[in-house]
Amino acid sequence: DGVEQEVATGALPGWDQVERLVHAAHERCRAHDGGQVADYIPVLAEVDPGLFGVVVADSGGEVHAVGDADVEFSVQSISKAFVYALVCEAYGHQEVLERVGVNNTGLAFNSVMAVELNDGHPRNPMVNAGALATTALMPGATPAEQWENVRTGLSRFAGRQLELDGVVYRSEAETNMRNKAIARLLESYGRIRTDPLEVVDVYTRQCALRVSARDLAVMGATLADGGVNPVTGERVVSAQVCRDTLAVLASTGMYESSGEWLFEIGLPAKSGVSGGIVAVAPGKGAIGTFSPLLDPAGNSVRGQRATAYLSRALGLNLF
Ligand code: DON
Repeated sequence: DGVEQEVATGALPGWDQVERLVHAAHERCRAHDGGQVADYIPVLAEVDPGLFGVVVADSGGEVHAVGDADVEFSVQSISKAFVYALVCEAYGHQEVLERVGVNNTGLAFNSVMAVELNDGHPRNPMVNAGALATTALMPGATPAEQWENVRTGLSRFAGRQLELDGVVYRSEAETNMRNKAIARLLESYGRIRTDPLEVVDVYTRQCALRVSARDLAVMGATLADGGVNPVTGERVVSAQVCRDTLAVLASTGMYESSGEWLFEIGLPAKSGVSGGIVAVAPGKGAIGTFSPLLDPAGNSVRGQRATAYLSRALGLNLF
């Protein structure tokens, strides 16, 4: 889009300039209407495709929000990044590495074949198999306690109490046979040691938590800020956990286009099928976007464009 990055280091520009660039990102990308809304979870197909919000939260706690920044949607796969962080906090670097893995599978997020090809090792915490294996590790004596810990953990990242979208949860719970099959398969390889259907239920709830683009930006800024939520000042996870999580997002956060994303935009990021994207600039802040029209890889079309623009205009590309 003709915007060149000039500097890759230093702090974000001043308040006025960031505010202006967030407005410019929204303005430039609003007209793009390519892509399709996800429909494999029936209720997601009913969303207004015109919705579009762009938010930047910096690691000092300033938030710049334009458009549909406070419209709530189900977090979907973006939850995988933050549940992974909570599990890393509980188990530590080495154990999570061994039990879940950190590599891109190169296959679709709901692939069964990926599990088989890796002898039952989930390999990638950002696809459904690895995310199910991760959710199974959430602290809690019962599935209800695990779910409560997921909800409170993600709420601390967002700096406000997040709520379950019951309609999305039920819609997905009625149609997620594939996730149940993946969980059973992982059980057969000894990778899930509790009731696999209970794990799928907690995972399905975690995906149905309601967030806004503003929440995503603050959640991402918490990872950028070494684990301290820059708005509430609360420490959510350790700095080491943020490094581990961001490394995984860099290699696998954007489905099969993770390599292209890193090549073009140069930031660890995670997307979800409901149209959210969070991109993190370590030490600086994060970009949260929401627009439900997706490209064939499953990433929001407007969200990618707005993030690409802001990465360049704000000088965020890590490389
Ligand atoms: O499990 C599913 O298929 C959805 N709850 C989440 C899908 C999603 O956003 C894709 N992720 N990598």
